[in-house]
Amino acid sequence: MKRAVELKINGDTYELLVSTHATLLEVLREKLGLMGTKRGCDLGACGACTVLIDGEAYLSCLMLAVDAIGKEILTIEGLSEGGDLHPIQSAFVEKGGLQCGFCTPGMILTAKAILDQEHNPTEEVIKKKMAGNLCRCTGYKKIVEAIMSVTE
Ligand code: FES
Ligand code: FES
Repeated sequence: MKRAVELKINGDTYELLVSTHATLLEVLREKLGLMGTKRGCDLGACGACTVLIDGEAYLSCLMLAVDAIGKEILTIEGLSEGGDLHPIQSAFVEKGGLQCGFCTPGMILTAKAILDQEHNPTEEVIKKKMAGNLCRCTGYKKIVEAIMSVTE
């Protein structure tokens, strides 16, 4: 069954016809071409599909698109302003917090949700709250360093 929905994504409003069982991840990637939101496990286990919904980090592979109606959705494409990288994005670049980059959009959006709620978290807090975002390349050290550098 399909349903007409209005989704607010990165400040724009999209009117779409979506399957009622389509995940938000599927709609972002397949209907809107917002490929920055990654499909890793599609099972809620890797964090690669993280987006912000009303400022909170959510796994878009576990959320139905119809459940996002009326909410403000932020994907990695909406994070930089006027072509300038967000400070967390710049920190990942400067500190070498990425290699292949597959996990990076989810990492950065989860970090944004953490730092928006708590401006000066400890390294332990960051590690604990980032635990749902997996990276196969970096060993996490530089990711944590990058996030810590934004708090300083
Ligand atoms: S793709 Fe959603 S958690 Fe892995
Ligand atoms: S940089 Fe490759 S998975 Fe994290």
